[in-house]
Order: sequence, then C-alpha cells, then structure tokens
Amino acid sequence: MTALPAPTTAIIVVAAGSGTRLGAGVPKALVDLDGRSALSHALNGVFAARAMQIVVVAPAGHEQEVADELIDADGGRGRRASVVVGGETRQQSVAAGLAALHPGIEVVLVHDAARALTPAAQIDAVAAAVTAEAGVIPALPVVDTLKHVSGDEVVGSVDRSLLAAAQTPQGFPRRALEAAYSRASQTGDEHTDDAALFTAAGGSVRRIHGSERAFKITTPSDVERARMLLGERVPTPPVLPRIGVGTDVHAFGGEGNLWLAGLEWPGERPLSGHSDGDAVAHAIVDALLGAAGLGDIGQHFGTAHPEYTGAHADVFLARTAAMLAEAGFAIGNVSVQFQGNRPRFSARRAEAEEVLSAALGGAAVTVSATTTDRLGFPGRGEGIAVTAVALLVPLG
Ligand code: CTP
Ligand code: MG
Repeated sequence: MTALPAPTTAIIVVAAGSGTRLGAGVPKALVDLDGRSALSHALNGVFAARAMQIVVVAPAGHEQEVADELIDADGGRGRRASVVVGGETRQQSVAAGLAALHPGIEVVLVHDAARALTPAAQIDAVAAAVTAEAGVIPALPVVDTLKHVSGDEVVGSVDRSLLAAAQTPQGFPRRALEAAYSRASQTGDEHTDDAALFTAAGGSVRRIHGSERAFKITTPSDVERARMLLGERVPTPPVLPRIGVGTDVHAFGGEGNLWLAGLEWPGERPLSGHSDGDAVAHAIVDALLGAAGLGDIGQHFGTAHPEYTGAHADVFLARTAAMLAEAGFAIGNVSVQFQGNRPRFSARRAEAEEVLSAALGGAAVTVSATTTDRLGFPGRGEGIAVTAVALLVPLG
C-alpha cells in the first residue's frame, strides 16, 4: 500500500476561549448542542473537508476532554489530530497552534470551533483559494443598517455596501502568516481575527462568499439557532383547545310558528328577527366564531347577507362548520342553555340535539332549558335568552 502524500494544508481549530458572553459555565466549544458539543460539530466539518493536518487548540485543563471529542468526532475512522493548549487571547491560541504545524505545511487555515456548523465546503473553498501571495476569508454581506454611535447618540450612518462580515476558516500562506504573528508578538498588537493581523503586517487578503451556517456561537440565542438548525426538537408550547361564548336574545313576535334549537314548534309563538329568529342556533354560531377568532354572526350572516333571510339553523351551522374547518379547527363540543317559559323543551331535547349536531357535521351539541322564576324578560314571557359555549380543537 502506498502512503498518501502528507498534506500541505493544515487547519488550526481554536477552541480555547472561555465563552464569557455565552456564560454556560464551561468553555464554549464544549457546550452541548444536541448530545454533541460545538467542538464535535466543528470537527465534523473539518473531517469532512479535504485531508489536512488538524491541530485543535484546547482550553487549559480541558485537553483530555478535547482529545475525547476528537475520537468521538472521528467515529473510529482513525484520523489523527493533535491537541495543544491555548492562551489568554485568541491570538495567543492561534500562535500555539502554529507552533504545532508539520514542516511540510504550506497553507494554514485558522478556524473558530465556535462556528460549529460551518459546512465542509466552506473549508475546502478557502483552502483552494489561498495563494502564495494572499490570504482568503469567507465573508457575508452585512444585512443590518449600521450606525456610528457615541454613547446613546447616533452620530452617523455607515455605508454597508463597503462592509462584509468576516467568518472562518481564514486561510493564509504559512510563512507569511508566521511572519505576521511574530511581528504582532513583537509589537504587542492584538487583533480579533487573523486577517486583521495579516493585513497589519502588510499582507493582502481576498474574500470569498461565506455561509449563513458558519455563524459564530457567541450568545445563548446563537446556541438556540444552532440547535434549531441541527433539527433538535425545540420545545413548542402545547396547542391548547379554544373556547368561545355566544349569547342571543329574541323577543316573541311576528307570524307563523316558532323555530328554536333547529326545530319547528307548531302552535308556539315565533321569535322575531332576521332569519327565523332561532336564538339557540345564533348563540351557537357566535360561540363557534368567537372561539375561532373569526368574528361574529352579524359579520357573516347579518342583514348585509340577504341570502340568509328566513334561513334555518342548519344553514347557519353548516356554513359556520365549513368556515371553522377552513380555518383549521375541529369542533370539540357545544353546550347551550336557554332561558324562557316556552316552549316546554325536555320532550324534544334529543331531537334538537340531533338536528344541531348533524348541522355541525356530527359534533356533540347539548341543549338545556330553564325558567327564571318569572324574573326578567324571559320570566315575563317576552322573549328568550340563550348562552352557548363552544370548544374548538386546533388541527395540526
Ligand atoms: N479562542 C481561543 N482562545 C482564546 C479566546 C478565544 O481559542 N483565548 C477561540 C474560541 O474558543 C472561539 C474563537 O476563538 O472558538 C472565537 O472567539 P470568541 O467567539 O470570542 O470565543 P470566546 O473568547 O470563548 O468567547 P467570549 O469572547 O464571549 O469570552
Ligand atoms: Mg473572545
């Protein structure tokens, strides 16, 4: 078996930061995302990219955990990587990684473990774009409008077309990067990324297009974003059923027979009103519409809708049920009670419930009647008052 040529590209994965802005109590790279750490995901991307020397820069005191993460991310494929201990600043950590490079390395990529979901393709693209003369960074256009501020005061705007948000890995010709690092350690200058350090030493850097997935985990909301992208089931609030209440009042009056609770009542005085005056049906419609947040009976069936003049409960209820289904609700049950001296209801209760229930596509409807001890308009026999309560179950 012929040995593969040693890679001439290396990647330094810096994972030695403490993650103070995240405040997780453990170094940020070791924070659990979905049963696996941020570092483990970052290494996944690195291992999926083209073959490179891999150096992981670990937080002091966590070298063993990082070594374990490496074995875990490797998944038994036996790829090798070295672990070195990082420093106080990111720059010192990169410097520690540089010291571990094999002699034959010509191109160095420096990558934040905190950019845990960086696609392997981005690592490969950076590695391929580095030249002997220039470094390469992945960057995204800035989407927010940026301001110059002084304390609370906005003192100016920034032309965002001149800006790009830098990501990692950032790639450089090795010798030039090493020279830039030794210059920085002499001057004592601290830079927040390698491109800044490299250009400060006179190097040139080009950019390629970055990736949304290569965002840096910095705050707790970034952890949430990473978890969501990893498809972990994020706890969703329980879907609660919805209740609605509807009332209706009609006076007795007019010609013909009474219509109430979906039934015709021969010999009983009718209720007056638009349509057939069936106050039970109308209260049910309002309870259902209210529970669904779909407005009220006047809006959908009022005088502006002459097609419902004289219509009976079955028409209103069937139309309401169709609207609810369209809006994504199933009817749990409806409970209605009316107050009135007439009609005597109990003998026809089952019949009424059956009619109303059928009009609602089979949902359970229960109806009761009561008198008011001769009090109020129902007690004086002037009309009927109805209260309905409906329960809806949101679908999906
Ligand atoms: N890093 C490092 N050594 C340091 C500081 C940072 O290796 N002394 C690494 C981090 O582990 C991270 C990357 O550099 O992968 C980017 O740094 P940053 O996002 O600032 O991470 P932290 O410094 O850990 O976070 P914070 O600034 O909130 O403390
Ligand atoms: Mg930091």
